[in-house]
Amino acid sequence: MSDLERAWQWRAERGLFKEPSAIRIFHGPGEGTGDLQHFAIDRLNDHYWVTQWDHPGVTSHGANSARDQSQRRSLVEFLRQKGAHSVVGLGRPQKGVAPEAEVWWGEAPAEPIQVREGGASFLIRLRETRHPGLFLDHLPLRQWLLSHSEGLKVLNTFAYTGSLSVAAALGRAKSVTTLDLSKPTIQWAQENFELNGLQGDAYRFIAGDVFEWLPRLRKSHGHFDCVILDPPSFSHGKKGNFSTAKDLTQLHGLALDLLAPDGFLVTSINSANVTWQKFENDLLGAARDKKIELQILRAMDLPETFPTRLGRPSDRYLKGWILKRVSER
Ligand SMILES: C[S@@+](CC[C@H](N)C(=O)[O-])C[C@H]1O[C@@H](n2cnc3c(N)ncnc32)[C@H](O)[C@@H]1O
Repeated sequence: MSDLERAWQWRAERGLFKEPSAIRIFHGPGEGTGDLQHFAIDRLNDHYWVTQWDHPGVTSHGANSARDQSQRRSLVEFLRQKGAHSVVGLGRPQKGVAPEAEVWWGEAPAEPIQVREGGASFLIRLRETRHPGLFLDHLPLRQWLLSHSEGLKVLNTFAYTGSLSVAAALGRAKSVTTLDLSKPTIQWAQENFELNGLQGDAYRFIAGDVFEWLPRLRKSHGHFDCVILDPPSFSHGKKGNFSTAKDLTQLHGLALDLLAPDGFLVTSINSANVTWQKFENDLLGAARDKKIELQILRAMDLPETFPTRLGRPSDRYLKGWILKRVSER
């Protein structure tokens, strides 16, 4: 049995194809051998999004090697047999920004499609993009927000298309503020709210820099019961450059200024180069500086549809915690 078929069967046997309609069907770092280690495949209804990571000897842009071409052909063939309507591929270079995704087979839908996940719907875009709009590795966090947000005043920063905000709002949060640097993604977040029938003054959307807005929100909105941080590894904002390697203490300090007594801090990174130890030290530095004690309720890690191999800790790029601020005794 091929690696792809084995991964498919494993999910099918566990009923993972019934719901949600968006799922990682193959995660090469843990399920692939040979070149397939460098591929991941996401199913988005009947459309498939393939990520191909560059590695020595193979360049993903433009499929310019015969080896690369034949790999793509067999991958497309497998997905066609599984009923794919289209296959879109994104080459991720080792450094720098990926080029936009290319259609590898079929016709990618022009309009956004809707995927379902645990009672929520999300808009997915497959054309002229570098990401379809939903981070499938954050499914466990969306599930947690759905079941823990009732009555909370939530601030979701680095929000992208607002999927975590939608989960909090569907989980009956009292209010949800969604903040991201990019105007188009904030608009997409608003569309995701509309799609889920979420309307009204309780939902606020801000296109702006976290480093500018966190101090501002402290003055205008007071404390939040739940603050979510999910920064990219690097970014160039209005307030300058940010990197998880050097700025996590500052970022957490700003977030802690906004956190209500007994509030939840949800903090997550996607940086293979930042170890759990450094992440914890940076967060602890901020908490000590603010004289705040934090309890770990849950550690965040990749879900089971993103398996990796023991002995390769850098493949487990997703790290984070759900923490609770301990009130002064
Ligand atoms: C990893 S994505 C977040 C994913 C999101 N939490 C989710 O679950 O869909 C990072 C986001 O941070 C945003 N971003 C980067 N730098 C920022 C900044 N300085 N202020 C606000 N947003 C920023 C980017 O526009 C991008 O949408």
